[in-house]
Amino acid sequence: MIPRQVLDIMECPSCGHPELEIGTRRQPDLVCGGCGERYPIVDGVPDMVPRKKVQQYRYYRTDTLLNLIAPFYDVAAPLMSLAVWQCSPLRYVDMAHKAVGRSAGGAYLECPIGTGLVLGHIQAEHVEGPLIGVDSSWKMLRRAQARFEENGMASRVTLMRADPERLPFHPGAIRSLQSVNGLHAFHDRLKVLAEFNRVLEPGGFLSGSVLVRGQNALADTILDTYERYGVFPMLRSREFIISELRRVLGYPEVRHETYGSVFFFSSNKPGEPPAST
Ligand SMILES: C[S@@+](CC[C@H](N)C(=O)[O-])C[C@H]1O[C@@H](n2cnc3c(N)ncnc32)[C@H](O)[C@@H]1O
Ligand SMILES: [Zn+2]
Repeated sequence: MIPRQVLDIMECPSCGHPELEIGTRRQPDLVCGGCGERYPIVDGVPDMVPRKKVQQYRYYRTDTLLNLIAPFYDVAAPLMSLAVWQCSPLRYVDMAHKAVGRSAGGAYLECPIGTGLVLGHIQAEHVEGPLIGVDSSWKMLRRAQARFEENGMASRVTLMRADPERLPFHPGAIRSLQSVNGLHAFHDRLKVLAEFNRVLEPGGFLSGSVLVRGQNALADTILDTYERYGVFPMLRSREFIISELRRVLGYPEVRHETYGSVFFFSSNKPGEPPAST
């Protein structure tokens, strides 16, 4: 069941209508009060990718690839991080603790959530607001769901399938948004960054990490191979990402640290949080 707190900040990714209702048909779904589009809830996970987008070929290819990677991801990701990217997996956990802490009193969004590997290690008992995880791959989401059921976080984390270029949330609905190793994988990073900015509340916290070139030769060889096969289509250098974040977001300060080939960033959207919180 989707918690009321989450439903209240959701909107229709097709037409932007601010209200989605639980459908009354036998198959559970969310229904847009504006355009009438129905978003099926599949085994508890709403599919917020509009139908016309699902039919696009480029999404089919990415989904197939990511679904293939999902079963190995939990083992491969920490090993790759240590051996190839040369970054301790604990760095991600530190960063996620900070990002969840910064959501206090508001909503936390992780995009992409993947298999929930990072959020699964976070002590979130003290955080009252909703924790939301979004990904485009069903296999990743299913593994995240199993993880949160096993570790007792299932009632705290709402998972949904969504397109990062059109997230199903009201403008300014999210207090802290974290994107761990997703930006280098998205089809259109600029659109996704603009979308992150749209859903982040004024004063909100944006953080994440991205794989970059130019830090070590082995990593660069693997990244070149990934790019050749279209796994990660748009990999760039550290300097490129810094200037892109500054240019696209327009936030006054982008803080960053690089460990091996992993670039970590954080920034605050200008403005004051809403007075009621
Ligand atoms: C390297 S994983 C990172 C997952 C997670 N944040 C973590 O650190 O474990 C990249 C994730 O991005 C998601 N992803 C890649 N391309 C995507 C796209 N175009 N739309 C939505 N999710 C995408 C994949 O499904 C995958 O879960
Ligand atoms: Zn709609």
